[in-house]
Amino acid sequence: MNEADKGANYIKATLEAPVSGDEAVLRPTRFTDFTGQRKTIERLQVMVGAARRRGDPLNHILFSGPPGLGKTTLAFILGHEMGKNVRITSGPVIEKPGDLAGLLTNLEEGDILFIDEIHRISKTVEEYLYSAMEDFRLDIMIDQGPNARSVRLNLPRFTLVGATTRSGLLTTPLRSRFTLQTRLDYYNKEDLLSIVRRTCRLLDVSVDPDGAREIATRARGTPRIVNNLINFVRDFAQERASGVITREVAISALELLEIDARGLDEMDKRALKVIADNYNGGPVGLATVAIAVGEEPETLEEVHEPFLIQEGYLQRTPQGRVLTPKGYGAIGQRPGAAHPEQPNLF
Ligand SMILES: Nc1ncnc2c1ncn2[C@@H]1O[C@H](COP(=O)(O)OP(=O)(O)O)[C@@H](O)[C@H]1O
Ligand SMILES: [Mg+2]
Repeated sequence: MNEADKGANYIKATLEAPVSGDEAVLRPTRFTDFTGQRKTIERLQVMVGAARRRGDPLNHILFSGPPGLGKTTLAFILGHEMGKNVRITSGPVIEKPGDLAGLLTNLEEGDILFIDEIHRISKTVEEYLYSAMEDFRLDIMIDQGPNARSVRLNLPRFTLVGATTRSGLLTTPLRSRFTLQTRLDYYNKEDLLSIVRRTCRLLDVSVDPDGAREIATRARGTPRIVNNLINFVRDFAQERASGVITREVAISALELLEIDARGLDEMDKRALKVIADNYNGGPVGLATVAIAVGEEPETLEEVHEPFLIQEGYLQRTPQGRVLTPKGYGAIGQRPGAAHPEQPNLF
């Protein structure tokens, strides 16, 4: 591969890190700056400490968990803590083995290659990744027909950090090549509250303790949602109130966004309602619910369901999704109180 091709592949396969305004200010850059996920942080600190002491690159790490919990943030923190560069790309962007070669040959010893949505990487590229991760080597075929030959590329010893919202979709061989596989969970109230305070401090937003608690309660256990809600509530406080986020201001603003006291949004509730009203509480297949609410099945499964299941509104059974009594409660209904007058959607 010549230099120009390498460059083009590299640019194509590299997604620029989103460093827009607030995002850059808010992203924690050090372990000490990162709230919550204590088990994961402790595991990472052990690995970083040991690697640094030995002068070795960090071993490969896989982060899994729903969107907005800090997977990308942690990849950057690892780079900072190791004093190495972080290159960002994403599974579907690496189309050909050549794309992967372009990325890997541009790394320096100890650099981190962050592959987001690694479950969406193509099968062909995945097979090349095995030897890259294990032996820091790529055997690439160049040319075609009678001129075809295999070229071995020796790679710098790098660290692969993978992130996925669907760890179940990763193949066993790929998964087993990560020394650490660690799952991020939804944040508890206390951690969310300290993230609310931190964001407000960094953005110079005035918030009183009750206002902060209201935002934390409605953020679905997710730091990214905390930050988004604060942005909106801050605007609301400016336009409709005195500028300070009080409990009343937070509640009015979040009602305008149709986020309820439990943090459920319109789509969450539509999904719960469809299961209650059209399928008698389930079991019903995810694809069916997705069609009924007009959402992609993947979005429903990766974004909405994990929270609904973790909080006990919904259960996943082999027969399909089943609404719990708490799920009925969230939409103001009781189990068994069917709605025969409700016209079926189909
Ligand atoms: N533990 C945390 N403490 C403070 N802010 C966080 C934390 N985790 C994530 N964030 C914030 O949430 C945003 C989304 O996190 P990100 O790492 O992009 O999530 P993911 O990659 O898992 O979707 C980040 O921009 C960051 O500001
Ligand atoms: Mg991310």
